[in-house]
Amino acid sequence: MTSENTNPKKRRSFLERHAALERNGTLLMVASLLVVSVGGLVEIAPLFYLENTIEDVEGMRPYSPLELAGRDIYVREGCYVCHSQMIRPMRDEVERYGHYSLAAESQYDHPHQWGSKRTGPDVARVGGRYSDEWHVDHLNDPQSVVPESVMPKYAFLNDVKLDGEHIQALVETHRFVGVPYTEEMVEAAQKDFLAQSDPDADWDGLLDRYPGAQTRNFDGAEGVSEMDALVAYLQMLGTLVDFSTFTPDASR
Ligand code: HEC
Repeated sequence: MTSENTNPKKRRSFLERHAALERNGTLLMVASLLVVSVGGLVEIAPLFYLENTIEDVEGMRPYSPLELAGRDIYVREGCYVCHSQMIRPMRDEVERYGHYSLAAESQYDHPHQWGSKRTGPDVARVGGRYSDEWHVDHLNDPQSVVPESVMPKYAFLNDVKLDGEHIQALVETHRFVGVPYTEEMVEAAQKDFLAQSDPDADWDGLLDRYPGAQTRNFDGAEGVSEMDALVAYLQMLGTLVDFSTFTPDASR
């Protein structure tokens, strides 16, 4: 027993010195504050000189006016209370939900919809997983397609027709908080809003402004309803980035 750190004399002296901290509340508080400040600085300081912590990813674009309206309904109805939109980079999650979520995928979300609880599954990549009819049936009456579901019914969304009267203001608000909507997008907001779910509309302008936007009658009924907007939003979730060509930027 000659090793230094098993020397009882030395060990005692360290414990004795630490005892001073343990017996003096004020000293302990000052020392804790010091330790926490150093830890905090190391974590926070780099964020001040990094220009951007979000890697730009091809395919991400601001939400189309109809998707944006659907997102507002998602927030209004508190879907985030039961659903997360953040796939963590762990094997069980990636196998179940698909590629882990990228920061860029929620860069246009104000506020973000990561959520903190999963009563239902993560919906970050639910787009394209089910048909529009499935979503409409499921939102009308979740138990009709998943009998054991505890999700509430949202059939009233069919009855609320939307004319896009406030959509331009909504798009402008998102531009105000940093979403790169162009002047043209703001100007065409109501037109694009009405066109996306109208099978008789000319979609060229909309598709130039919002590449990859899905254009069809989502709820199968005349006019634009809240159901159209919500289903358009759900069908877009997780579909903007093409993961068959995506490679993470290793320099970050
Ligand atoms: C009380 C909790 C709760 C709320 C609120 C809720 N859901 Fe759900 N949701 C669930 C549960 C549980 C499931 C799994 C069973 C099922 O499919 O119904 C589910 C399933 C889903 C699915 C299918 C996901 C998949 O990958 O199979 C979608 C899409 C969905 N919910 C959308 C919504 C939307 C949109 C809202 C808001 C309008 C909402 N949910 C509100 C609990 C909830």
